[in-house]
Amino acid sequence: MSWQQLRVQVRSDQLELLEQMLLDHGGLSISYLDAEDQPVFQKEPGSTPLWDKVDLVCLFEQDSNLDGLLFLLQQHPAVEDKASLRLEVLAEQAWERSWMSDFKAIKFGKRLWVCPRWQEPPEPDAINIMLDPGLAFGSGSHATTRLCLQWLEQNISNESYVIDYGCGSGILAIAAALLGAHRVIAIDNDPQAITATIDNAQRNRIPSGLIETYLPEHLPGDIASRQADILLANILAEPLMQLAENFSLLVRPQGQLVLSGILAEQVDPLLEHYKQWFTMDKAVLSGDWGRLTGNRKQI
Ligand SMILES: C[S@@+](CC[C@H](N)C(=O)[O-])C[C@H]1O[C@@H](n2cnc3c(N)ncnc32)[C@H](O)[C@@H]1O
Repeated sequence: MSWQQLRVQVRSDQLELLEQMLLDHGGLSISYLDAEDQPVFQKEPGSTPLWDKVDLVCLFEQDSNLDGLLFLLQQHPAVEDKASLRLEVLAEQAWERSWMSDFKAIKFGKRLWVCPRWQEPPEPDAINIMLDPGLAFGSGSHATTRLCLQWLEQNISNESYVIDYGCGSGILAIAAALLGAHRVIAIDNDPQAITATIDNAQRNRIPSGLIETYLPEHLPGDIASRQADILLANILAEPLMQLAENFSLLVRPQGQLVLSGILAEQVDPLLEHYKQWFTMDKAVLSGDWGRLTGNRKQI
């Protein structure tokens, strides 16, 4: 059996309405793709609008008549790019995971790969993270994640205790564990991200208990007294600004801090703010995005 796949770029503030419209016309499964290679902006926990603009991909039975739906979408104000509206016929084997073709294996440094779970790793003897990011952000293809993975691959030492604050799919936590960390704490304020991190850690055969996952409000009290050697946070400038003092409590003196998710123009104010607690290095830029690193000052 074949299926019809409809793909359209929409404004995410109208996502719920459009989803309902697709379901009312017989939509069977809806997936979301980042339409503009953006990271997640201001995502509320538990909600699914991930980006400003989203490519909605919806599957329908082969014989569904979609003329009315296509007409409605053509007129809809949330469909700003009418040319993005496409309908194609899919062979059965591809339909469930059709969005996955956009996610490719990527190499970081000399020894680390992030590979889609459904592909053979290009270098089976390398350190391979097999990933299914699902709805949680973090497949390694975005510059903000890439900057963190490159840093981890070069800087992590065996036996490090690492905190991944804003873990998303768990990609950084899993990379840290596979690169030799002896304890990893993965924190996210979105329960979906916690679930994705646990699933992805199991799929990568991370020994049970090596990665602990927490919502911020459930962090056990002893975390503050066991400060980390490395804290990574790929979030966004605004929460990073708010979390600075908290991070200063979570990193041991001389311990390392890695911040990402920062637009180039946001680098300077963040550097200034973090200098209260950390000796900060010069920012590393990749396109529009910057990575900040620093060491916790002695208290
Ligand atoms: C850009 S994603 C990063 C995911 C992954 N660490 C990576 O590098 O690809 C940011 C994550 O931070 C989480 N987040 C945002 N603000 C947060 C906060 N104040 N506390 C904890 N997690 C937060 C989001 O839910 C999201 O999963």
